[in-house]
Amino acid sequence: MHSDIAYDISAQSESEDSLSLPLVGIIYGNVGTTEFKCNIIGPVEQTEYVQMRHEKVGWVLGQVDTIQRKTDLSLEKAQEMAEGQEMDIKELVSADISVIGYRDDRGLLQVPRTPFKAGERIYRASEDLIREVIGLKDNPEKGAYVGMLNGHDIKIYLDINTIVQKHMSVLAKTGAGKSYITGVIIEEMMKHGVTLLILDPHGEYSSMKDPAKDTGDPRFDVSPRSYSDRMIVFSPDTKINPDARPLKFTLSSMDARSLLELMGLKAGSNLKPLRAAIDYLKGVKPAYMIKDIITVLEADEEHDYGILVNALDYLEDMNIFAPQGTKISEIVQPGKTSIINLKGTPPEIQQLIVNRIATALFELRKIGKIPPMMMVVEEAHNYCPQQGKVASSGIMRTIAGEGRKFGLGMAIISQRPAKVDKNVLSQCNTQFILKVTNPNDIKAVVDSVEGLTSGMADLIQHIPLGVAIVTGGGISMPLFVEVRPRETRHGGESIKIL
Ligand SMILES: Nc1ncnc2c1ncn2[C@@H]1O[C@H](COP(=O)(O)OP(=O)(O)O)[C@@H](O)[C@H]1O
Ligand SMILES: [Mg+2]
Repeated sequence: MHSDIAYDISAQSESEDSLSLPLVGIIYGNVGTTEFKCNIIGPVEQTEYVQMRHEKVGWVLGQVDTIQRKTDLSLEKAQEMAEGQEMDIKELVSADISVIGYRDDRGLLQVPRTPFKAGERIYRASEDLIREVIGLKDNPEKGAYVGMLNGHDIKIYLDINTIVQKHMSVLAKTGAGKSYITGVIIEEMMKHGVTLLILDPHGEYSSMKDPAKDTGDPRFDVSPRSYSDRMIVFSPDTKINPDARPLKFTLSSMDARSLLELMGLKAGSNLKPLRAAIDYLKGVKPAYMIKDIITVLEADEEHDYGILVNALDYLEDMNIFAPQGTKISEIVQPGKTSIINLKGTPPEIQQLIVNRIATALFELRKIGKIPPMMMVVEEAHNYCPQQGKVASSGIMRTIAGEGRKFGLGMAIISQRPAKVDKNVLSQCNTQFILKVTNPNDIKAVVDSVEGLTSGMADLIQHIPLGVAIVTGGGISMPLFVEVRPRETRHGGESIKIL
């Protein structure tokens, strides 16, 4: 098909540094300063990088936005073809190229102020030019290796301090690979000795103790590895999660109001008797338990506290209170990753647990009692919803706003970006975006991500599994990254129904 392309490319002046680069095509049509069209005869796909020479500034980096195959097959001819006629179809491939820019003498990213010339050749971009213009550092010691630039053999390292200190988010629909890439980032954090706490509602992160069975494409240079020596798993429910250490809270640190909130009961007529029972117990039995509160309430023969007692019974069954709660110093250990496995725990109890732990981390971090660290929040829409208020809403917002001042970073993961508190989402400066299709969610993502072009917003709906748009993390522009394979076993394997 390409043989009927009419350009005589040998007539162009050849420059020595372009010789080794594959020719992609030639600029044609009306040429803008930030966008132009080019025919495609060489190896290049959407989102990949190209380079072209500008008469004033030299080599400039561009990116392939969209590719279109233009044909002379008309509706009428297609009809004839369907009826069995042979057709000679002429076709040409055209691409829209965005101008990314070049670095000037001071190293600043610039875009030429006059258009390129029609007839100018477009080449596949060299690794050196991509690195220079995008500003990729090759400093693997301090970097988090997340994958390769899509379509190019260039490893992408993000700045660990930027990720941890400025909060990050992973946003995509279910099954798009959020937990997988979060696992990649956690591996990099563990490797670099970052202290982590993972709120894990599905119990899928404990699998990181095991090395991956295979590490996929050798291009990525990933070897299976176990991080079991750096991981500690806690769970409020050690019946469902027998390998975890028990996570318990001290009942005496809960006042009547927060207990009612936890049980989903209105203060109304419940607050007074509950408060009285707790006050009484504090005097006679400092290490009281839920069943002691029930005993006191039932001893009152003049009143029927049926509803309150039933709710307390339910809480008692949760088995999350103990005379001595789990100490934060046991949960958070320098350079270690602690997983709070919340599998099997009802949502309102999860929110209470998240509230308690997050509040403790924030307060202790303020006074330097725990090391700088990052808290990973899976299913974040449940802990800081955009609508309504749950036990953990306030502290999540506080950490999003003030955490970075105290060295407490957050990773927000959600399949419903539109349902996550905007005040929290807007504070995440490093973003990993995978496939999103719900229009409200696309809007929430575009609103929260700086530097996302409208072309990228369209692409979000079609991102293939295994590719992420990465913004921030110390890199000056959004990148399409082919996520590297995992070193550890991914625990979020979707369950096959058939
Ligand atoms: N980069 C990737 N490479 C290979 N497989 C992947 C990748 N990302 C996701 N997967 C696979 O896709 C499935 C869904 O990924 P997962 O991260 O659990 O989705 P999510 O958390 O977004 O619902 C899993 O079976 C996982 O193994
Ligand atoms: Mg997941």
